Amino acid sequence: MNLIQSKGALGFRGHAILCVLVGLLFSEASSRPGDSPEEEVALLKLKLDLLSIKYRDLCKQYSNMAHNYSAPVISCSTECPDKWLHVGDQCFFLATDKWDWSKSAEKCKEIGSHLAILTTREQHEAVEKEGKRIGGIYTHYWIGLTDAESEGNWTWVDKSELNNAFWSVTPSEPDNNQTGGAEGEDCAVVDSYTHSWYDVPCSFTYPRICQMDATPLV
Ligand SMILES: *[C@@H]1O[C@H](CO)[C@@H](O)[C@H](O)[C@H]1NC(C)=O
Ligand SMILES: *[C@@H]1O[C@H](CO)[C@@H](O)[C@H](O)[C@H]1NC(C)=O
Ligand SMILES: *[C@@H]1O[C@H](CO)[C@@H](O)[C@H](O)[C@H]1NC(C)=O
Repeated sequence: MNLIQSKGALGFRGHAILCVLVGLLFSEASSRPGDSPEEEVALLKLKLDLLSIKYRDLCKQYSNMAHNYSAPVISCSTECPDKWLHVGDQCFFLATDKWDWSKSAEKCKEIGSHLAILTTREQHEAVEKEGKRIGGIYTHYWIGLTDAESEGNWTWVDKSELNNAFWSVTPSEPDNNQTGGAEGEDCAVVDSYTHSWYDVPCSFTYPRICQMDATPLV
């Protein structure tokens, strides 16, 4: 169930029940020693969802008051620039002009973003889907993943390590195929046709996926 969407239908009584639920969660439902990590994660997610409902409620109350008393206006949700995909608290943009990997990284920086760092399946699937939707003959988009510094050690542009990979299985990637040049393949693309990642030579030119934080809640 999507708590946020269902709240409207719950009405005042549902709201009261939710408040009790929030209270219960924060007072008693802290994780216990026997909890598995999965249970802890699920609990944290539930707490976050409830907090965000509470946040929206307070924010709406504030906005109503602020309007009448000329207090500063705030936005009650996270936002992405026009034409950017909103995924969780992140924004993604598929730019279709083509550059090599380094230039693509610069292009993202120029607009206050960075080449995409896809850390969750949700993000991976969202950009793959958008790539497919945009369509055209180009199915490869640069992401901010490279092993140029040390072969086989795939690292994101923010220097974080790769934990959640979605490499192509058939053909098996990354393969550092030297057909495109002796330096092999040290930069990664998402392939919107196969919904997976490939390593390719960094000198090839492709469209790119830029990413930035969504404008925070407050
Ligand atoms: C703000 O003003 C409107 C119209 O003057 C009024 O109906 C509303 O109740 C006021 N809201 C608050 C929170 O004071
Ligand atoms: C891989 O690269 C990262 C970032 O440059 C570095 O911190 C890490 O130690 C490297 N890992 C290995 C196994 O070389
Ligand atoms: C490298 O790529 C070429 C051209 O796409 C292909 O024919 C060859 O089988 C690939 N080599 C490996 C080891 O996958």
